[in-house]
Amino acid sequence: MSKTIVITGGAGFIGSHVVRLFVNRYPEYRIVNLDALTYAGNLENLRDIENAPNYSFEKVNILAPEALDKLFATWQPDGVIHLAAESHVDRSILSPLDFVYTNVIGTVNLLNAAKTHWKGNFEGKRFYHVSTDEVYGALGDTGFFTEQTKYDPHSPYSASKAASDHFVRAYHDTYGLPVVVSNCSNNYGPNHFPEKLIPLFINNIIQRKPLPVYGDGLYTRDWLYVKDHAAAIDLIFHQGKNGDTYNIGGFNEWKNIDLVKLLCRLMDTKLGNEAGTSEELITYVKDRPGHDRRYAIDASKINQELGWKPSVTFEEGLSLTIDWYMDNKEWLQHVTSGDYMNYYDLQYSKR
Ligand code: NAD
Ligand code: TYD
Repeated sequence: MSKTIVITGGAGFIGSHVVRLFVNRYPEYRIVNLDALTYAGNLENLRDIENAPNYSFEKVNILAPEALDKLFATWQPDGVIHLAAESHVDRSILSPLDFVYTNVIGTVNLLNAAKTHWKGNFEGKRFYHVSTDEVYGALGDTGFFTEQTKYDPHSPYSASKAASDHFVRAYHDTYGLPVVVSNCSNNYGPNHFPEKLIPLFINNIIQRKPLPVYGDGLYTRDWLYVKDHAAAIDLIFHQGKNGDTYNIGGFNEWKNIDLVKLLCRLMDTKLGNEAGTSEELITYVKDRPGHDRRYAIDASKINQELGWKPSVTFEEGLSLTIDWYMDNKEWLQHVTSGDYMNYYDLQYSKR
């Protein structure tokens, strides 16, 4: 094997697409998937590659420095692609400390493991930290987040990701750790846990449950198909400049209510429903506290420097996503049993 790469959070939504891409595209690399398998981690996401000769799974929690130490000693990784995180804003409002632990302390534990094991010999080494556009805060009706936009996080989730980004850059500036950071807009696609807007609403439409739109529904997000994010991560990991930051986005802004209506229309067609059937499920509910009004990414740096751009339109990506959920009802059933219902009741029963 020419390189060993540890991908953290590889059993989660985006991580599983990154693991699959690397395992299939780079048979000469050993890919080690480090994941604690929290509620969001699911090895079913990786069934198609779990027996690949260049793939290994390690059930490790980034909150356990000794376990990280052992993993680094065993595998001697050349690279780390760090995606493991608590990732849902609503859960961060219910339980902020979980986000401080995993996103901040877990990231610092991982930085320490890399720093200790690479021992100042950084030739051929890279620590890639995957982050979010939410660290930049909220935009008004115009403008975009660039790599120079000042951090202004508002939710416990985005505050914890902002803190982790600062630590990654501090390890570069202080210890010379070779790092690269990317900040991406909202992802959607197969294997997305049905607590986030798109998979939650697909699941609720299938089950004919209410579609809880927060506030006035005029909040705006920039949506990117998850496989396009994975392709950007591949490019940045291999060609990004040491110490640099890259914004990744879909050039694809949607107001929540417009997106939900598009989803309803597409699903009515696919389910053979009469037009308008799913829209009847739309229910306006109490707003999320501290809800960021608009996110929009200026992705021109990655486009100009690395030649990246999204490969599918939103309508194509959404259609592929709906098809995946309709073809994978068993996956959906597995992840929406047990604890999921406790969270669902806590989050939505009083809205
Ligand atoms: P996810 O919640 O689907 O997956 C997170 C994964 O991390 C899970 O497999 C989970 O088991 C694992 N994990 C959680 N805590 C852990 C711990 N303490 N130790 C080891 N593993 C742990 O998240 P996602 O949506 O795939 O996001 C992945 C990364 O991308 C996150 O860092 C997130 O901030 C970032 N990001 C996400 C989006 C998005 O739209 N989902 C957009 C931009 C950036
Ligand atoms: P989400 O998928 O949680 O991503 P993020 O908050 O990280 O952007 O939410 C996307 C948008 O959809 C956000 O404006 C909140 C809104 N939303 C709802 O209106 N209802 C819901 O039930 C959920 C989960 C989100």
